[in-house]
Amino acid sequence: MSIDPTRTDAWKELSDYAQTYRANLRNDFACDPQRARTFTYHLPHINIDISKNFLNQKIMQMLFTLADQTHVKDKRDAMFHGEHVNVSENRAALHVALRAPKSEEYTYNSRTISSDIHATLEDMYAFTEGVHSGKIHGATGKPFETIVNIGIGGSDLGPSMAYTALHPYTYPRLECRYISNIDPSDVASKLHDIDPRTTLFIVVSKTFTTMETMTNAHVAKKWIINKLARYGVSEEDAIHSHFVAVSTNDEEVRNFGISPHKMFGFWNWVGGRYSVSSAVGLSLILTLGRENFQEFLDGMHSVDTHFLNAPDEENIPLIMGLLNVWYTNFLEASTHAILPYSQLLSRFPAYLQQLIMESNGKHVRSDGTPIIEYTTSEIVWGEAGTNGQHAFFQLLHQGTHLVPADFIAFVNPSLECTESQRIQHDLFLSNFFAQTRTLAFGKTADEARQEGIPEALISARTFSGNHPSTSILASELTPRVLGELIALYEHITFVQSAVWGINPFDQWGVELGKQVAKDLMPAMQGDTTALSRYDSSTQELITYYQQHKKTS
Ligand code: F6P
Repeated sequence: MSIDPTRTDAWKELSDYAQTYRANLRNDFACDPQRARTFTYHLPHINIDISKNFLNQKIMQMLFTLADQTHVKDKRDAMFHGEHVNVSENRAALHVALRAPKSEEYTYNSRTISSDIHATLEDMYAFTEGVHSGKIHGATGKPFETIVNIGIGGSDLGPSMAYTALHPYTYPRLECRYISNIDPSDVASKLHDIDPRTTLFIVVSKTFTTMETMTNAHVAKKWIINKLARYGVSEEDAIHSHFVAVSTNDEEVRNFGISPHKMFGFWNWVGGRYSVSSAVGLSLILTLGRENFQEFLDGMHSVDTHFLNAPDEENIPLIMGLLNVWYTNFLEASTHAILPYSQLLSRFPAYLQQLIMESNGKHVRSDGTPIIEYTTSEIVWGEAGTNGQHAFFQLLHQGTHLVPADFIAFVNPSLECTESQRIQHDLFLSNFFAQTRTLAFGKTADEARQEGIPEALISARTFSGNHPSTSILASELTPRVLGELIALYEHITFVQSAVWGINPFDQWGVELGKQVAKDLMPAMQGDTTALSRYDSSTQELITYYQQHKKTS
């Protein structure tokens, strides 16, 4: 039976406290010169300052008690021990095993899994060496220059986000492109200017049945067969030499035409959105190389170890997860902004949207009981700074919503820099410091007057401040640091799910959408009986679609 967190004493205490609590960041900082020190935490390579948030020691203590009363640490241990924490699919969620060194044994259903994990990793490293050296090449004998990853959701967002983030670390002779959307313009735009002789496709799909991925994979298959036929390459050779698969479903991979020797496997205990450290990361291994990918895994592992072992008072995923619960359930914040001050990290908000909202956007607890008295996942959104400043920051500064925001920045640029680029980077980061400061402390009416602002404009040009933010700062965006960041957010997400009593590892809502899209196809293609089964809005929309469809 799942615990309804609202029935715990800690929840009631937090609710009562929230009734009279009035956040005042100016005051908090004025009263306590040590506040920043007190509320700054450390992962091995990341510094996290949560002092500009609506919290104090009493709130922290009550949140720790809530974690105890909802058994967060027991649930964490169950996840690490390979118990079937994904109850609706009756399986474990053992992504932490994927990045553990071989010496740390993980077991699943009483069977050790570490050797399988490391054997697959070694296969992928060997494959990478072959591609880099040219021993593994295209059907005409040319070495590969372009990798095309076809996948969606967890089979795309993690690798594509990390590829962009770690671009300065990538192997210069290999470019990677990611095709995810079933919109035909995605595949068309990614294929139009590449040489088929030097292109390797990786079809990534846990199930190997996802409509978008399989449709795009078939388009790619046709494309390579047609293009290579001009060079006298047979269909069989074209597929054999230019396609590899990453999946848990060998049968469907074989049905597609990819031989099992060209498939890198993973396991049903790896959830899609938690899979970047599995074979799903093959495009990263190919482009980053063994050493960098290993650094990435080590970064994740260091945070796994921290989450498992650090005491509550230092356990940053625990603390940040509980802080999100405080905002969501007691201060009624419904959104959370992710604001990387790094163009390289521009896909991180999209990556976190899947991680957080697909995990925690749930309306029942793990045992199926409905969630009535509290909300679950916050709505995650964001954009790289400074672009966001010129788009939606006005709402953060002077709007009426409570929006906790995570600012993420790197002291040093990832690129070798000229002196003038360094100065530009300083200018860039001055915005990171300025925004978090201004959000917290604003500008009072008196300060505005001192600047000579006319009295009639004082209220419009006053900033109340008191807008919460977390500042996440690392020296540089390296593979290790990115690994730490990803694992940090995975575990923050887990902590929230554990308090809410939900299963963060299934996604039945998405499954329904997939099914309905498939069912609608006959109606879209003119089957009037099928169309008549739908509601009037869907019927009208499809009729409009049919009337305006151009025939080729
Ligand atoms: O979006 C739903 C989902 O099931 C995700 O959880 C998953 O990452 C994605 O579809 C892709 O699934 P697959 O890897 O099986 O193609």
